[in-house]
Amino acid sequence: MASVQARVETALEHCLPPRDQAPQRLHEAMRYAVLGGGKRVRPLLAFAAGAATGASHERIETVACAVELIHAYSLVHDDMPCMDNDVLRRGRPTVHVEFDEATALLVGDALQAAAFEVIADAPAGSDRGVQLELVRLLARAAGSRGMAGGQAIDLESVGKSLTLPELEFMHILKTGALIRASVTLGAQCGSPTPAELERLDHFAKLLGLAFQVVDDTLDAAANTATLGKTAGKDAEQGKPTYVTVLGLERARGLAEELRREAHDAIVGFDERAQHLRDLADFIVLRQF
Ligand code: IPE
Ligand code: IPE
Ligand code: MG
Ligand code: MG
Ligand code: MG
Repeated sequence: MASVQARVETALEHCLPPRDQAPQRLHEAMRYAVLGGGKRVRPLLAFAAGAATGASHERIETVACAVELIHAYSLVHDDMPCMDNDVLRRGRPTVHVEFDEATALLVGDALQAAAFEVIADAPAGSDRGVQLELVRLLARAAGSRGMAGGQAIDLESVGKSLTLPELEFMHILKTGALIRASVTLGAQCGSPTPAELERLDHFAKLLGLAFQVVDDTLDAAANTATLGKTAGKDAEQGKPTYVTVLGLERARGLAEELRREAHDAIVGFDERAQHLRDLADFIVLRQF
């Protein structure tokens, strides 16, 4: 994990504009939003899925950066006063607090564009058809039928109680879609068979849901210092979560069940999928 995280840190640094290039304040804020923090779970998943399908590290690096840029953008907007109104992220003031709201809005806009630019700038010799498919998958995951759509449901649901299927739908979109894209984009950098791709996608779908279930449990049960973001916000803001619908213990049980199912989904893979298995464990067992 540490070696991939270090590699991704350097790659992200390279794909962001330098802070002394105009407009300096925007570029500085983009770098602040992306660099020096975060678990880098999505890039790790892209590398692990690429390893399972024999992809080159150079190719995977591109999609790993793209998914992390979309993720970073989603966090900047998620924290803004018009959404979750959070002041702490990755142990530091959120972008709109450190800079200002208009800058935070533009950081999100620019990071989203940067994600697609990174894929379009892929290494020489890349298959253009594959590149286009990567763009399509990422666009779908980020848009109104993916992350942005899930965020819309999240905001509409404040103060309401959702049924379990409604909650699952929201989580699969707001968090699951990008986790799923991280795995499928990473896998597409190699040479998966259609059956392998399907199994990896199923694995990622389970894991994406598990990721947000765990995020909900941590919001309810962990503390601010460990999380690097304000704990207890979901209850404070009247958000329906797996904790409000199932209670903490059953939510934890569900995450555990999803972890087992995720392992089962890739049981046919050899040791090349070991990092995916390890990441499934990390995502569910993490404390932050
Ligand atoms: C937090 O994501 C937001 C959700 C989608 C639940 P992460 O827990 O991956 O945040 P970082 O990137 O490690 O800060
Ligand atoms: C965030 O969900 C999902 C996205 C950023 C798309 P949360 O609002 O629960 O994430 P945190 O808890 O603020 O990281
Ligand atoms: Mg939110
Ligand atoms: Mg939030
Ligand atoms: Mg949360």
